[in-house]
This record gives sequence, structure tokens and C-alpha cells, in this order.
Amino acid sequence: MKKVGFVQNHPIFGEKEKNFAQVEKLLNNTESADLIVLPELFATGYTFESKNEAKKMAEIVDVGITFEFLKKISYQKKAVVVAGYVEKNGKNVYNSSMMVYGNQLIGNYRKLHLFGNETQWYDKGNLPLNVYEINGMKIGMMICYDWFFPEVARTLMLKGTEIIAHPCNLVMPYCPDAMVTRCLENKIYAITANRIGEEERAGNKNYFIGKSQITSFDGKKLSSAPETDLVINFQMIDLSLTQNKNINPFNNIVNERRTDFFC
Ligand code: ACM
Repeated sequence: MKKVGFVQNHPIFGEKEKNFAQVEKLLNNTESADLIVLPELFATGYTFESKNEAKKMAEIVDVGITFEFLKKISYQKKAVVVAGYVEKNGKNVYNSSMMVYGNQLIGNYRKLHLFGNETQWYDKGNLPLNVYEINGMKIGMMICYDWFFPEVARTLMLKGTEIIAHPCNLVMPYCPDAMVTRCLENKIYAITANRIGEEERAGNKNYFIGKSQITSFDGKKLSSAPETDLVINFQMIDLSLTQNKNINPFNNIVNERRTDFFC
């Protein structure tokens, strides 16, 4: 069994140190875990005014203060930690998530599907959908609006993912219910970690819906956070249950795919 969960935070725009402190305080209520997922852009806030502003808050994946903070959390909780951040790489800026374990960077993911104004602030993700086998789990990453594209979760499952770490800044209402289908149709778990609160900058207003969720391979919502509260939640799950892709003696959701008819 693995102890996995999310932190639902409320970032103050641009105040990385204060946002680290808020997450650390929330995590004081748990001793250790196997996997902790934090929201998309958990330390910077979401609503940038320009690409230039996003770039000012961006970090190179394994040299910035966000990496240092995540290493500290990982070490304290003995957990794999996945969290969203603004990444810079040369002149490019990405909406990314990193996976950290102990004092090591395990993986980096750049959001493939940019939502709304994000298309003005970031470059499109250009890294493969990878699965990382770490701490006895096979973990894939996707970020927020990627849920709208079933191919993302499907690709991660076909590559062996048992659980998707899904940092989010959700503004539409659909994702929590949609993740039930994403998990059921792939027989995998997912942790959707969202933020709460409202941001208004340069006439651009976003309200974030909270409702972080742990979804089971059989489509059950194992936990569902409220819309407006700071929350941490952990569940004990058995990842081996994702291995059997049969749904009855006749039907197997991997082998039965009619790829000869798909595009
Ligand atoms: C989103 O992708 N942050 C809505």
C-alpha cells in the first residue's frame, strides 16, 4: 500500500517564499508519505501580465529555490514530490512540473496543452510523456488542461503509468468529474492537486475552483476537497490493482483497442 495525496494551497502572486511557508505549514500535519502532489505554479501564482513577467519568476529546473524547497519537503516527508513551476530554458519559458525524490530531480514535464492566456506566456511543451519508476510507484505527470485530451492519460497508461500526478490551476468546473472517466478508461489512479482563491491582474480575472481530488482506478473519488479551503489529504492505495486491464472475462481495455480504426 502507498500513502499518496495532495496539498491544496492559496498562493499569493509573486511571493515564492511565503507560498513555500504556507505549503510547509500545511504539511506539518502529516508525518510521512510516499507521494505528494502540489498544484500547478504553486509558488508563483498563475495570472501573469506578460511572457516577460513569467520569465522573471522562472527557474532552471534543478538550480532554483523551488527545486531546493521541494528537495527539503521530499527529504522531510520521505516522499516523491511533484509540483508545478515556471521553467526557463534558454530563451524559452514553460509551464512545467518537476518530480523530486530525496535530493534528486527525477523528472521534468512541460505542459503540452496551454490554456487561454497561457498561450501568450509560455512556449508549448516539447518533452515526451514519460513514466518514472521511483519509490515503488510508476508515476506519470500531466498538467491541468492536459486532462481535456484523453490521449495524454492514455499514452501515460500505455507506457506503464499506475498513477498520474496532475498539478492544476482549474478554472472550469469539469475536471473533477472528467478525471473519473480518465481513470476508469485507463484503470489507473490520479491525484489532481488544485489551488483556491482568485487573482485579478491587468484586467484578467481567474477564480480557481479547489476540489482537489484523488481518483481511483475503478472511477471512485477517494477524496474530494472543498472549493475554498486550504487542505491536505492522503489516501492509502494499492497500485498493483492497476495492472489488471480486464473488466470482465471477455473485455480487456488495452488489447481490445481498435487501433486500425483510430487516428
Ligand atoms: C489550466 O490549464 N490551468 C486551466
